[in-house]
Amino acid sequence: MTWRLLFICMASVSADLYFPDQVHIALDFQETGMRVTWASEHPSYGASVQYTPVTSPNQQVSNFAYSSLGSWVTFPNLSNPKILVRHLSTCTAVMSGLIPGNFYKYRVGSDLYGWSQHFAFKARKNFTETPEARLLIYGDFGVGIETAATMSRLIQETEDYDYDAIIHDGDFAYDMPDNQGELGDDFMRQIEPIASKIPYMVAQGNHENENYSPHYYYRFNMPSTSKNLWYSYNLGKAHFLAYSSEFMFENYTDFLSQQQVFIENDLSTYNRTQYPWLIVYSHRPLYCSANWSTTYQLNSAPYIQRHNKDCLQDAVTVRNAFEDLWYNYKVDFVINAHVHAYERLAPAYKNQSVPCEYQDQNTCIGAKAPAYIVTGTPGNQESYAPISPTPLPFSMAQDSQWGFSRLTVINETHIYWEQIRSVTKEVSDWFWLIKSKN
Ligand SMILES: *[C@@H]1O[C@H](CO)[C@@H](O)[C@H](O)[C@H]1NC(C)=O
Ligand SMILES: *[C@@H]1O[C@H](CO)[C@@H](O)[C@H](O)[C@H]1NC(C)=O
Ligand SMILES: *[C@@H]1O[C@H](CO)[C@@H](O)[C@H](O)[C@H]1NC(C)=O
Ligand SMILES: *[C@@H]1O[C@H](CO)[C@@H](O)[C@H](O)[C@H]1NC(C)=O
Ligand SMILES: *[C@@H]1O[C@H](CO)[C@@H](O)[C@H](O)[C@H]1NC(C)=O
Ligand SMILES: *[C@@H]1O[C@H](CO)[C@@H](O)[C@H](O)[C@H]1NC(C)=O
Ligand SMILES: *[C@@H]1O[C@H](CO)[C@@H](O)[C@H](O)[C@H]1NC(C)=O
Ligand SMILES: [Fe+2]
Repeated sequence: MTWRLLFICMASVSADLYFPDQVHIALDFQETGMRVTWASEHPSYGASVQYTPVTSPNQQVSNFAYSSLGSWVTFPNLSNPKILVRHLSTCTAVMSGLIPGNFYKYRVGSDLYGWSQHFAFKARKNFTETPEARLLIYGDFGVGIETAATMSRLIQETEDYDYDAIIHDGDFAYDMPDNQGELGDDFMRQIEPIASKIPYMVAQGNHENENYSPHYYYRFNMPSTSKNLWYSYNLGKAHFLAYSSEFMFENYTDFLSQQQVFIENDLSTYNRTQYPWLIVYSHRPLYCSANWSTTYQLNSAPYIQRHNKDCLQDAVTVRNAFEDLWYNYKVDFVINAHVHAYERLAPAYKNQSVPCEYQDQNTCIGAKAPAYIVTGTPGNQESYAPISPTPLPFSMAQDSQWGFSRLTVINETHIYWEQIRSVTKEVSDWFWLIKSKN
């Protein structure tokens, strides 16, 4: 009797140690592929993803037509000397041969240690037939009460699977390694309802400094050969390039030059006729106006205010590294976060507005330089940046309320951008970027 109880108890503990958790998907190198990544305390050999096409994401399935083996990475020793050593592994499997635009049901795990719940996603569309691509974009999220308004809004937004990707351009959990990585686990669980159905595409933030944490490398799995630091993909009529803005701040000069080689090669070889829009994203802004921030403390006053260099010296450092690249390759949009504010800047170069052929508050036809966006207000526990009383002359809009951005690449001539407030769902800013006929 005692032995049997002990056996049952050990079996359930060990199943938990291998149980698949924190499921999320990302675009693959192959247009007909989708990656899925999950975590568990220990790797379990033979773990895989099983997937099957369905006509609706709500369709119940009992059999999966396809299966693909996962491959594991085990985190290096996560121990905090004061507490017990903790183990963590993540697994990525690629679902391939997907029918464009079709819904799929999937689960991850194994017969031996158990399967996750069933999730659903829509395979990458065939944009030849329907060119429009839709994305949700933000940076500087966190875990906890401050993120609740945006999180529930994002769950509503993605209810119809009507987005092609979510971009989170850095600063995930303040910080993922904290509490032996349990904060990272909490963050990944928080985003699972959206990231298990829409490809969750990331860029490195300053809170993902890999000197002290492998979390950014191991928890995400982008279509990248550089541990997620730089990579590119196409959606609709746009070419997207993710890069890291952190190397100049962390003395990774080798990475900076390797990244530069990748960017130059990528931007000089992809098919600009097929993908006339060029959109790049990373964490730190080249241009922004907020030069102070306020520490956010729930129910407590006074707030602590501090001036910072994010839009001053640090922005100049980022500009010196990237501005000529973006200008010379005729990038349309540079999207950043880091400053906990929303700001949209008109096309600019060398700290000067470069007027479009036609330009008004919400329209630019025929841009001659990149337009800049800072979208860092989904809500996090750290701080927020109030609206700057001294905006750059080419700053077109600011908002400091919790929110996120929507990007619609409509076709080869029209892009539509919006900022949505999480609590009220109001559109606080909107912008048309239109190619000139010439
Ligand atoms: C992890 O590191 C701690 C402290 O540095 C050490 O005591 C422990 O033995 C290590 N554990 C493993 C499994 O390597
Ligand atoms: C997408 O659609 C076009 C036109 O219908 C077709 O030629 C192409 O093969 C399709 N691509 C894929 C990946 O199915
Ligand atoms: C980068 O290296 C320089 C020169 O070695 C040093 O002065 C500086 O403090 C370093 N910065 C960081 C962030 O490590
Ligand atoms: C680029 O794309 C266009 C339009 O889809 C196509 O006609 C052309 O052949 C492509 N060029 C190359 C080099 O693949
Ligand atoms: C920083 O912001 C304050 C207002 O908060 C403003 O008075 C000041 O001129 C700004 N400084 C710079 C260098 O932009
Ligand atoms: C950029 O322009 C603004 C406003 O015209 C000015 O205050 C700021 O000093 C300039 N920054 C640099 C680095 O030139
Ligand atoms: C692109 O979309 C815009 C806005 O919906 C529309 O006015 C325009 O006619 C479209 N262009 C093409 C080539 O489909
Ligand atoms: Fe940041």
